[in-house]
Amino acid sequence: MPDRRPPRTLIAASILDSDLGALADEIRRAEAAGADRIHLDVMDGHFVPNITFGWKTIESVRRATELPFDAHLMISEPGRWTREFLDAGCDSITFHVEVDPAQVRPSLEAIRQAGRSAGLSVKPGTPLAALDAYRDLLDIVLVMTVEPGFGGQAFMADIAAAKLWPARAWLDPAGACEVQVDGGGRRETAAAIGRGGTDVIVAGSALYRAADMAAEVELIRALADAERSATLPASRA
Ligand code: DX5
Ligand code: ZN
Repeated sequence: MPDRRPPRTLIAASILDSDLGALADEIRRAEAAGADRIHLDVMDGHFVPNITFGWKTIESVRRATELPFDAHLMISEPGRWTREFLDAGCDSITFHVEVDPAQVRPSLEAIRQAGRSAGLSVKPGTPLAALDAYRDLLDIVLVMTVEPGFGGQAFMADIAAAKLWPARAWLDPAGACEVQVDGGGRRETAAAIGRGGTDVIVAGSALYRAADMAAEVELIRALADAERSATLPASRA
């Protein structure tokens, strides 16, 4: 089983709060600033009280960068659209475990069969135990530290403390999955996120509202890494 844990904390830039009218440029801006991935928040106005964009938009900006495209589907029917998001060029697709259970396993399998990374996300109120039945199919566990739907919300430190390290420990020692945190990732919360052994920090407003995006990427990563490296087993540190 491959160890999916990256040696350094990765920063996934969420374009939710970028200028969506200039999305290709905003993606290139994140790449130039040193972001490791582009995080694409797809919302259907049903699973969450907000609507963003779909696979057509993702397809049309896919060529703006070679960075991995990390889709976060906040939609009620991920199974209905998995093929479209794969064809649009998403390197990983994460959806929510709170959707109709009949959709979960087939969607994860389809993502895996396409050779992409498959992930499940848990809302703040959903216990990690909800993921237990799908462990064999998970490449990514995405812990939400805000209620999904909007950028710029306050980081739920209690949720991070309760879930991040348990997610890490639950997945270790094989390191078969990466743990991502989404919601409120910024310089003020980076240490707490790193302390949880988190592999990937999703950051939206902290980057797109920063005066200097590159400096912000570096600072968030450094603050998280300082804590994360202390949590890693020596062989991976
Ligand atoms: C919220 C989205 C997040 C959001 C994060 O539902 O899933 O990815 O863009 O934004 P910030 O970093 O501003 O909390
Ligand atoms: Zn997201």
